[in-house]
Amino acid sequence: MNENKKSSNVVWHQGEVTREDKEKRSGHKGAVLWFTGLSGSGKSTLSHAVEYKLFQMGVYTTVLDGDNVRHGLCGDLGFSDVARRENIRRVGEVSKLFVDAGVIVLTAFISPFKEDRDVVRKLHQDGDFIEVYCAASLEACETRDVKGLYQRARKGEIKDFTGISSPYEAPEHAEIVVDTGSLSLEDCVEEVVMYLHNKGVIKT
Ligand code: ADX
Repeated sequence: MNENKKSSNVVWHQGEVTREDKEKRSGHKGAVLWFTGLSGSGKSTLSHAVEYKLFQMGVYTTVLDGDNVRHGLCGDLGFSDVARRENIRRVGEVSKLFVDAGVIVLTAFISPFKEDRDVVRKLHQDGDFIEVYCAASLEACETRDVKGLYQRARKGEIKDFTGISSPYEAPEHAEIVVDTGSLSLEDCVEEVVMYLHNKGVIKT
């Protein structure tokens, strides 16, 4: 529960169309694929590639991407520990709305803190939250440095930068660990899609 909750006298309205109705129509279950990893570890690339594959299979999907969501919904948040927690809390709540709509939502956020990811895990029903650790090493991400941010963080131009001046707590029990530092994109996509098949989230 959010400690800052100020809404009172609000009553949950249960709609006529249930999640199960929606899942029955679409032929797949709702779920969240929660991609976590360092900046530059391939979260966005992999989540969009998985979405592309699922879309071709007729699956209803959406991607929530850290850099994009920070243009709107979370545009008021910086990168302190508290701001990151709020970022993940909001995205967690949005991901729940999508799962309840029977959609497979793919989220690509560094989400560096285990506790914050676990809050989102607990928000979801068992089996709905699928943590996908993009396990590229700091060395690999920094060598790639696609956005040039590591170089700027090393020079002290960006503070609280994950992996440099702010911690990243790697998941210990992620449902899927993808070696995005060395596997091909195609192989990474295959691993994620196979998991969804094996767990019966998708049937095609
Ligand atoms: S999170 O830690 O709150 O989950 P999020 O995924 O939304 O982060 O945003 C990370 C993206 O913001 C990075 O990919 C990078 O492009 C950009 N960014 C800007 N400043 C920082 C910073 N201090 N630490 C990490 N990423 C940053």
